[in-house]
Amino acid sequence: MSLKIGIILGSTREGRVSSSVGDWVLNKAVNRDDVTYEIVDIKAFDLPFLGTTKDMTQIMKWNQKLGELDGFVFIVSEYNHSISGALKNALDLAKDVWVNKPAGIVSYGSAGGARAAEHLRGILSELQVPSVRSHILLSLFDDFKEYSTFAPRDIHTANLDMLFTQTENWAKALKPLRPQPIS
Ligand SMILES: Cc1cc2nc3c(=O)[nH]c(=O)nc-3n(C[C@H](O)[C@H](O)[C@H](O)COP(=O)(O)O)c2cc1C
Repeated sequence: MSLKIGIILGSTREGRVSSSVGDWVLNKAVNRDDVTYEIVDIKAFDLPFLGTTKDMTQIMKWNQKLGELDGFVFIVSEYNHSISGALKNALDLAKDVWVNKPAGIVSYGSAGGARAAEHLRGILSELQVPSVRSHILLSLFDDFKEYSTFAPRDIHTANLDMLFTQTENWAKALKPLRPQPIS
């Protein structure tokens, strides 16, 4: 069974570290069996803020991309003890295409992004996205140089493998509950 997992970059900020963290996750996922991981960059979709325009073009592209995926790894930066506004808006701009697709969380911040990750778990449960137990907490002090250049410690690699396995297992198990492609 071939699956597609999207690595969702949760920050759209100029100068963000989100893309370095996402690239690290993608690099660790390249040799997974029967599963393809890809970066899904919210910034590239140029999403409007919910309710500010009648033009649905970008929102439809976002929904179409999510519709192609079987699960997610969220790259989560902590902003004021929660997720970024950009990620919350992107979550709000889709509904059915999230359902019955599991997620792993890779977060970062001064406390490993733990507070943002726990907020995200609550939001995901409303969207019917089950979040797996394994969670990568990257410290701005220990996994970044000068708090900005990503240099992860080796200890995260084994945990990341577990996060992949748990996400893939649930993505497989929940597949019958998701709409099947028309053949
Ligand atoms: C608006 C804002 C609020 C922030 N609030 C927190 C916070 O509450 N806790 C924390 O650990 N880091 C906080 N930070 C630091 C970010 O986690 C850090 O800058 C991180 O690199 C942001 O991710 P990004 O570079 O991918 O955007 C904040 C940063 C910004 C820009």
